[in-house]
Amino acid sequence: MATTLAQAIAWGRRELAAAGVPSPDADAVLLASHALGLGRGETEAKAILGAPEPSGYRDLVARRARREPLQHITGRAPFRQLELAVGPGVFVPRPETELLVQLTLDEARRWREHGELHPAVVDLGTGGGAIALAVATEDPACRVSAVEREPEALRWTRQNLGGSPVRLLECDYRDLTPQTVGRFCVVVTNPPYVPDGEIPGDPEVRDYDPPTALYGGDETGMLLPCAAMDTALRILRPGGCFIMEHAESQVAAVADALDRRGFTEVRLHHDLADRPRATTAVLPGERS
Ligand SMILES: C[S@@+](CC[C@H](N)C(=O)[O-])C[C@H]1O[C@@H](n2cnc3c(N)ncnc32)[C@H](O)[C@@H]1O
Repeated sequence: MATTLAQAIAWGRRELAAAGVPSPDADAVLLASHALGLGRGETEAKAILGAPEPSGYRDLVARRARREPLQHITGRAPFRQLELAVGPGVFVPRPETELLVQLTLDEARRWREHGELHPAVVDLGTGGGAIALAVATEDPACRVSAVEREPEALRWTRQNLGGSPVRLLECDYRDLTPQTVGRFCVVVTNPPYVPDGEIPGDPEVRDYDPPTALYGGDETGMLLPCAAMDTALRILRPGGCFIMEHAESQVAAVADALDRRGFTEVRLHHDLADRPRATTAVLPGERS
């Protein structure tokens, strides 16, 4: 007897749970949506109405059961209002990073209230372009730049940012100077910050996210985050804001590194799961 969509999804859920996938219910449905080329709601409606199993569904479930990231299988990653193209060679954007976009939009609004109609924003280590493109989409008055160094990631950056107003700088963020790129009201970054010896346990992260996107460059994971702070010191306008994601374990080290560099108004921010995952700080001086 032919299998129905509902039976196939129930099978997929069991396979994914047995493989240790953290969200088997959602992933079983989302893989069916991908096989059908439909949204999640329409897929669930079809399952209730007794539609047949879509062809190729079992292969998709087998890939996910081998812990290939869902976003690599579908080729898409949701982020704020966007759907970004992702795959091998680029970091998959995470929900917690959406907080950085909100902090950047809030800061851009403050600059506008001080008379800067087109606040300049730069995203250091943009990967697939998630933060830069979300800011440019949600606040089109911002002039947004994005910096990425890795050739494998840049294939995806160019694809996602193509046709957008975001200025893409293909270089090392440690090399930026005001002479080459100008000065910014906001420097935002989700840099690599995993301590070098701490190999992530999740196969999706360990085996698929590029090491150049994960590891912070020394045993504390703070080398590349501190390099981002040094770049921000050079390219921020007086009164400009530095916004950075970090691990929960790095809260004190980040605040200390910002203090030592002379940043003021160092503030910690919590994500939707109430974890302290971002810090903001201001370069002293009058906004001008
Ligand atoms: C954690 S990922 C963040 C990607 C994206 N911003 C996001 O939040 O989804 C860090 C990114 O920084 C890039 N990167 C690392 N070191 C860099 C450097 N020195 N200069 C420019 N980009 C760098 C990596 O290639 C990677 O794409």
